[in-house]
Amino acid sequence: MLKLGIIGAMEEEVNILKSRMQEPKVKRIASMDFYEGLLEGKPVVVVQSGIGKVNAAICTQILADHYQIEAVINTGVAGSLRNEIDIADIVLSTDALQHDMDATGFGYEVGVIPRMEKSVFVSDPELLAMAKEVCREELSNLGVHTGRIVSGDQFISDSEKKEWLVKQFNGYCTEMEGAAIAQTASLNQIPFLIIRAISDKADHSAEMSYKEFEELAIKNTVILLNGLIKRI
Ligand code: ADE
Repeated sequence: MLKLGIIGAMEEEVNILKSRMQEPKVKRIASMDFYEGLLEGKPVVVVQSGIGKVNAAICTQILADHYQIEAVINTGVAGSLRNEIDIADIVLSTDALQHDMDATGFGYEVGVIPRMEKSVFVSDPELLAMAKEVCREELSNLGVHTGRIVSGDQFISDSEKKEWLVKQFNGYCTEMEGAAIAQTASLNQIPFLIIRAISDKADHSAEMSYKEFEELAIKNTVILLNGLIKRI
């Protein structure tokens, strides 16, 4: 049975999952609490990474080294980059990149990691197909979108920057961890998928909207994750 790592950046994103685990073994590594146990009878490790790409990468590497996870899911909220992607909708990653990687002064395209084979990390097609199936069967009232997730150590709340992210990278939504998890998973040959529910529109209304809709968005990711774990 596939051992699954589940990473959420914030308490709100992982608390419901943790509370559903039966007698998890908890271990603190690098100031992060790793909850190892069963969800829907399947072996999982659930962890709150903290916000941002550095925390997310450290967390993923610990899941690989200490827990030998065989797949990793990143769950949480994100800002929509497209008009048709609404608050509470779900975005499933086709791939992910770091929008704030900028070595243009050194002759590289923005988003390209110098001296690396790849800068765009592709999601696992089987996990993606399974997640789509759960959405069709259990979240049919919601908009579900599949596309590129662009991550950076920035909360995007400005329309100009939002437009740039779309024009430059063809992003569907933006957040602060996914691409770091994707890169770390890829370097360790671990399949990954990013599942994000939209909390805001990544423009001037982002801060207000985020506070209002975060809880609703997270509920949708929990339904999706539960369905996905059942199928794995
Ligand atoms: N997570 C949720 N909304 C976000 C935004 N607008 N920018 C970055 N990360 C986010």
